This record gives sequence, C-alpha cells and structure tokens, in this order.
Amino acid sequence: MQEKIYNWGILGPGKIAKKFAEALQHPTVSRRCKLYGVASRDLERAVDFAETFKAEKAYGGYEQLIQDPEVDIIYIATPHAFHFELAMACILNHKHVLVEKPMSLNREQTHFLVEKAIEHNTFLMEALWTRFLPMTESILDDIKHNKLGDIRFIKSDFGFPAPNVPSGRLFNPRLGGGSILDVGIYPLFLCLLILGDFTEAVITGTLSDQHIDLNCQAVLKYKNGATALIASAIDTQLPITTEITGTKGQIRIPCPWYKNDHYYLKTTQNDHSEKVQLPAHTNGFEYEILEVIDCLDKGLIHSAKWETAASMILAEQMDRLLEKLAVKHPYTCHPFSDRLNTPPRI
Ligand SMILES: NC(=O)c1ccc[n+]([C@@H]2O[C@H](COP(=O)([O-])OP(=O)(O)OC[C@H]3O[C@@H](n4cnc5c(N)ncnc54)[C@H](OP(=O)(O)O)[C@@H]3O)[C@@H](O)[C@H]2O)c1
Repeated sequence: MQEKIYNWGILGPGKIAKKFAEALQHPTVSRRCKLYGVASRDLERAVDFAETFKAEKAYGGYEQLIQDPEVDIIYIATPHAFHFELAMACILNHKHVLVEKPMSLNREQTHFLVEKAIEHNTFLMEALWTRFLPMTESILDDIKHNKLGDIRFIKSDFGFPAPNVPSGRLFNPRLGGGSILDVGIYPLFLCLLILGDFTEAVITGTLSDQHIDLNCQAVLKYKNGATALIASAIDTQLPITTEITGTKGQIRIPCPWYKNDHYYLKTTQNDHSEKVQLPAHTNGFEYEILEVIDCLDKGLIHSAKWETAASMILAEQMDRLLEKLAVKHPYTCHPFSDRLNTPPRI
C-alpha cells in the first residue's frame, strides 16, 4: 500500500517556522511530508516563505489555511499568547496540530485544548522537540537500565541575554513574555520526564517593570526525595548545561544541552567519563516530525513519548512557579476567534 504524504500547514512564518520548514525538507521526512501551505498576517510574508520553501499555497490570514480542506496537520509557530486560540481553531476545523512550546499560556488553556482534541479526535502535541532527540532517548535508556542508580539530583538551566525589546514576544506580557514560558520550560520538561511532578518548589527571580520574569532560580523537591535546581533567564547568559546525578553515576550534558548530540556518562564502576556520541542531526526538528508521522499513521491522537497529559502537568508546574513569582499574563485574543466559534476564554 502506498504510504500517505501528509500535507502540512504553518501558521506564523517567523524564526522557528524557518527551522521547521528546513526540517520538513530532510530526506527522512520529505518522503512522507509536504509543506503544503503557509499563513501569515501579511500575504507578502507568506508568499516569500512559500517561495523559499516551495509551499503550494500562501495565505494572508491564518483562518484561510486552517479552513483549507487539503491541509492534514498544522504547525503553530506564533508567539505563545496565540497558541490557544489557534490550536482551538485548528481542532474545531478537524485539523491535527503540532503546537510550539508552551502549548498555551496556562493549565486551564492546555486542559481545554486536550479535552477538545479528544472530543474531535484530532492529534495534538506540544512541540518539545528535545524529547525526540537521540540524546534524550539514550539518556532515558541509561536510566531505565539503572546505569545511574536512583536519581537524586538534577541541575539544569537555560538562559541567554535577549535584546530588550519591550514590544517583542520575550518581554511583552501580552505575548506571553518571560523566561519560564520560553526557556525555563526545557529544564522543567527534563525534570518531569525523569522525576515526575514536583511536590514542593522554592523560587526566586527578577521581574521586569512589565512584571514578567527576566530570570528565575528554583529548587524543586520530588516525592522520592530527589531534588532539582533549575534556572532560566532572558537577561543573562547561563551555562545551558545539565547534570543528572544518581546513586551509581552521573550524566553531564554540555552546552547546549537541550539540542546536543553527545553527553558524558560516569559511573561508580568507571573512574573516567565515557563520551556517548549520538548521530548528528540536521537541526533536530526532524525527530519530532517523524514522531508525528508515526502517530498519524497509527491513528493516535497523542504521542506516547510526549503525552498531552505531560503537557498538562508541565503547564500546571509553570503556573505554580509563575504564581509564586507573581507573574501574570493577560489573555490576548485573535480577531477571528468569534467567526471560528472558538469557545469563550477561560
Ligand atoms: N522549539 C524551539 O527550539 C523554539 C525556538 C524558538 C521559539 N520557539 C517557539 O516558537 C514560537 C515562535 O517563536 P519565534 O521566535 O519563531 O517567534 P517570532 O519569529 O517572533 O514570531 C513568529 C511569528 O508569529 C507571528 N505572529 C502572530 N501574531 C504576532 C504578534 N502579535 N506579534 C508578533 N508575531 C506574531 C508572526 O508571523 P506573521 O505576522 O507573518 O503571521 C511571526 O513571524 C514561540 O512560541 C516559541 O516558544 C521554539
């Protein structure tokens, strides 16, 4: 039987959309995927992007692409604040959705999306691409095979000095700005993957004059007694490294840990660190795309590797941390949401 070619649509042809479109051209991916259409708030931008990446259709509005019957799956690559509205619009139009991280601005929105995706039998996944990299698979395998013993401590951070543009997506509260939602999500995701949900959190950080978190440092405690020390920043360069320490060994992932193709493993039986080298990747996004294809082929509506249930816990964790820091993101609304009959804001 001939394998299905999935028609992808991209909403928001910005920085990350370009990387994603490049990954769609990766040979392992392009034999099963086609970049069918791209939508921008500006038709010229959509046309430029479509020409660069050889998409068939370019739309000067998101709604048109969402309603195009030829589209199988939509990648949402807009700032965080619009993920909820757009993902909801996709689901209501029976489109499968891969939505950039974070899935939405908070737990309520994420829960609602997951509920609606189940109701409409549409695939939904948060694009936490690190989860699908060979490095992450290999580390999970080491942990499963008890190379580290019981995990006692994780230290992980992600931070960089972003140019302070108050209206930009990183600093503007209305676009879901702040370090936790943008980069703190990576250390949190890794800790969740390895240790599960935390039971206690102590957090400190610095807020901007617009009340978004410029940086944060948190100590998290887990049911089994393990702890994690995480940090995020959009105003400071952090090491961007990770250490996972267990009773029998340690893994050290050098910078940039969230997209690396190697790490170092040291066990109590071995005095020196062993370098674990994984295959080099194009830009890493090809692995999450392959996971999506696999799920769609199998008729699954979520990935077993990064479940929507995990996205809900992650969203709740970020809510808890942001609440402790007194960060609040005002909800924003897309102009076409009424026409698409999007449910009322929650
Ligand atoms: N997985 C990763 O490694 C990774 C890395 C970076 C970012 N991300 C995620 O990807 C998403 C987009 O990040 P990005 O850095 O690509 O963002 P970006 O370039 O600043 O914006 C992406 C696009 O969103 C659209 N957009 C819609 N409404 C907008 C508004 N009110 N203001 C600004 N842009 C708006 C714009 O496209 P049009 O105006 O043309 O429609 C813009 O080009 C974020 O959620 C982020 O967390 C993921």
